[in-house]
Amino acid sequence: MCGIVGYLGKRNALEIILKGLEKLEYRGYDSCGIVVYGEKLILKKTVGMVKDLKELFKEKIKADIGIGHTRWATHGGVTEFNAHPHFDCQKNIFIVHNGIIENYQELKKILVNKGHLFNSETDSEVIAHLIEDFINQGDNFEASVHKTLNLIQGTFALLIFNKNEPNKIIAARFSSPLVLGIGKNEFILASDPLPISLITDRMIFLDDSEMAIVNKEGYEIKSYVNNLKIDKKTVGLDLKVKTTEKEGFKHYMIKEIFEEPIAIENTLRGRILKDKTGTKIRGLEEIYHKLKNLKRIILTGCGTAYYACLYGKYLFEEFLPYIIEAEIASELRYRKINYDQETLVIAISQSGETIDTLEALKEAKNKGAITFGIINVPGSTIARTVDAGMYTYAGPEMAVASTKALISQITALILIMIYLARKNLMKPEEAKNILEELEKIPDKIRYILGQESLIIDLAKNLINYKNFYFLGRKFSLPVALEGALKLKEISYVHSEAYPAGEMKHGPIALIDENFPVFVIAPNDSLYQKTISNLEEIRARKGKVILISDKFPENKIDYLISIPSSLEILYPLLTIPSLHLFAYYFANLLDLSIDRPRNLAKSVTVE
Ligand code: M6R
Repeated sequence: MCGIVGYLGKRNALEIILKGLEKLEYRGYDSCGIVVYGEKLILKKTVGMVKDLKELFKEKIKADIGIGHTRWATHGGVTEFNAHPHFDCQKNIFIVHNGIIENYQELKKILVNKGHLFNSETDSEVIAHLIEDFINQGDNFEASVHKTLNLIQGTFALLIFNKNEPNKIIAARFSSPLVLGIGKNEFILASDPLPISLITDRMIFLDDSEMAIVNKEGYEIKSYVNNLKIDKKTVGLDLKVKTTEKEGFKHYMIKEIFEEPIAIENTLRGRILKDKTGTKIRGLEEIYHKLKNLKRIILTGCGTAYYACLYGKYLFEEFLPYIIEAEIASELRYRKINYDQETLVIAISQSGETIDTLEALKEAKNKGAITFGIINVPGSTIARTVDAGMYTYAGPEMAVASTKALISQITALILIMIYLARKNLMKPEEAKNILEELEKIPDKIRYILGQESLIIDLAKNLINYKNFYFLGRKFSLPVALEGALKLKEISYVHSEAYPAGEMKHGPIALIDENFPVFVIAPNDSLYQKTISNLEEIRARKGKVILISDKFPENKIDYLISIPSSLEILYPLLTIPSLHLFAYYFANLLDLSIDRPRNLAKSVTVE
């Protein structure tokens, strides 16, 4: 994963890079480092977060160029030595790298035999030594980088600084994102557009096998494969920097949970027909001519985005005449799937950078499938790879735990379903009924969020338990999976989800008075069946927390009440309570909620 930032221009490079790194901490936050050059070269690294790195700069520093890195360890433990930037033997060449160099061991062996001394256990360090080696053999800096890029295998977004040419940063990418921001006599390079927005809204997204040579006078983009110049389009992206602040909330996660209603409103905006009998989705309109022979839809994503896919499968099956599949992207890409032009692959991703989702998508596209993305981050790699797509407009999601993004993905799926169903058999009145109910959901979520004190009390009551089950059927199964994932990823307690009907096939063996069970059972077509499963748990002394709009007469340990709605819309009402519960549970344990251990927001390694 990891985040990289480079800056050159008239401002204070140190300040810009540190600010930029803070914006990229969602990509990794176990260690970080920076090299800046002004009156002299300064290199600092530390284990910990960017705020710890800032502490190392007590006095004011004048620097107009530099590169920085925030790390999520892959090769080599979390140590200062393994933190980036890495450098060559002479400390002239400095690099920051996001990705994995797969052939680093053989390259390192050759370099060590030639006498190169390595400082770290990382795969990345070979890059600095390779460049040095080519320079030692008589190549200039740019040619050395060029040769190095053609030798390394794997994935990379790279920034390279040479102390002997301190007016320049060379950047390159393969399979890891990299953006160049173009200001007035200043440039910024970063893993995503957020740091770019510190100085400009004009940017260029580098593509695979491209390198950028940037100096204070200008920039040049080339293919490092054939060395030919490439004319790239500059795009304007106005990212509201202020929406990435905590705005008075203790953590990003709770702020983002409270943004769930507005996330739905933003996803819906401009996409419902005036008379509400259908939806308007530009991306689908663009590719609709290709969908005439559509037979199969495969929804794919990872983690929480995969749960949106599972919801989408159940939703689409209900209304569309196609075969619908939901697949975990990291599995899908290694399976033998027959893709053709009668298959639509929908990739769902908040970041638009998840490598498993991206690679599964590329595979499907190369084999002839039509591809579509449901993406939150504008301009992200997946957004640029799909044939067409729609943005969810949930706004920047900074906490590692995905919350409002899921809610907006579900909303997008409902809009897509209605678009396709109206082209099939859905009657205008049915679409209207769903859309009118959908428009009421944001206020219903506001009502649920207004009851957060009840959830805080529930978290207090359950804080000493170490194991949790989350159960649901059909549309509530993805909800249960989401509840369990959210709790485990930020609280580090064991939590698992099952289809409620599966309990009696094994998992119920674990139930006793020490095993609280969340049962998600809104008043839908499976309500009675789920309540029977709930009784089976109670019969074995399990503690039950029921989330519903209808409560059975028998006494239940804890109740979380939600407003009523249509069966397909209930997940939008049951998920927010589980998000609140996970948040307040972790908050009581005083854990690092926005940056949980071992995780990163954007997973760009396999
Ligand atoms: O950016 P993406 O939506 O593609 O990310 C997918 C998963 O990595 C992500 O949902 C992850 O599971 C979250 N930490 C869940 O809260």
